[in-house]
Amino acid sequence: MASRTQEELEDAYYSEANTDMRNHWYPLIASSTLTSEKPLGQHILGDPIVMYRDPATNEAITLVDKCPHRSAPLSVGRIMDGKLECRYHGWQFESNGVCSKVPSNYKIPANAKVRKYPTTEADGFVWVWPGDLDRVNQAPKPAIYFQTQRDWVQRSGVEVLDIDSSLLNENFLDPAHLPFTHETTIGKRSNSTVMTVSCEFIDKTSEGFGIGIEGFVSQPERPDLEKVQQKFHFIPPCIVSLDFGGMGDQTFYCVPTRKGHCNFVYSQRFGFLQSAEKFFLGRAMLNWYNPQYTRKILMEDYEMLKGQQERLAQGANAMNSPVPADLMIKTFRNWWRKVMKREDGGPWFTGFSSDMEDILLEGVPRRAVGGKGKVVKTGKDKVAETA
Ligand code: FES
Ligand SMILES: [Fe+2]
Repeated sequence: MASRTQEELEDAYYSEANTDMRNHWYPLIASSTLTSEKPLGQHILGDPIVMYRDPATNEAITLVDKCPHRSAPLSVGRIMDGKLECRYHGWQFESNGVCSKVPSNYKIPANAKVRKYPTTEADGFVWVWPGDLDRVNQAPKPAIYFQTQRDWVQRSGVEVLDIDSSLLNENFLDPAHLPFTHETTIGKRSNSTVMTVSCEFIDKTSEGFGIGIEGFVSQPERPDLEKVQQKFHFIPPCIVSLDFGGMGDQTFYCVPTRKGHCNFVYSQRFGFLQSAEKFFLGRAMLNWYNPQYTRKILMEDYEMLKGQQERLAQGANAMNSPVPADLMIKTFRNWWRKVMKREDGGPWFTGFSSDMEDILLEGVPRRAVGGKGKVVKTGKDKVAETA
């Protein structure tokens, strides 16, 4: 197929298909944190979910975090007799979401079941699919995105943050903040000079990803800083990847767990630590130090992003006076606006309806909304009204 022009790719970047946040695999937690002893409460795109390992198979399970009896959170329950048990009245659920025990009754109500989310494990993470059930089998198998295939020393982790995924995404596409926000870690105040950013649309569909952007940064007054060329990618729905030439690369998933919150999932590769990795002490140092250092850098951003989020909630603009260095942020934010203004009401969970769980189990659309707040009833399906 002939490669597409920048104009065609730009249209595709903002298209309905490329702004669909639901139909994706999301890495949500590290595989090592999921056990068959205790359920874990999480969210994805606002859906409350409970995750655990099936004691019989060790399989990672994700169910909606709402008991069909009285809507208590199943994530505060227990794993008993190999089943997920609600701690309110002890109803027990199989790993397919079907209730198999109601201690206070002879019979099990017919509608006593909860939605099961497709869940899998890859590259050290548990991945959840919050989209349409009939599309999951066509989706490429999940794998961490990297710009290049290289055999480098790799470390990964997850941090749970009360920061909106959009703000964290922007932060990683913002080269001008490094000398100031990260002055004591990865930035250097003296490296701050005039900066220009170029940005092109890129097609990653043949690799199982979407249409994204690729940015390069140049600092014409400091050619010495351009020896290591940094290449930025933003790939929908929430991937930012930074490539530092032969030095290493990093991929971040700012997973939208719920409004104002995200799971920061990172995978970092180092092009200069192969010798340290060969020795026990070197590996131990890397295992201990890398998460600490990553957290330290993240906390430098946290103060900015948390304050920014509070002001945006009070009605402030995300971008008032853009400068050329903000080009990648602008291109990301224009895409994010399209996501929020989708005809189907956008990606966020809008609440349970009385028959929501049956609807979700059957894999039919969660809702059909025409225009802002206008509810369209499709056949017998009841739909939740949006704000
Ligand atoms: S609310 Fe879960 S068993 Fe009653
Ligand atoms: Fe930062």
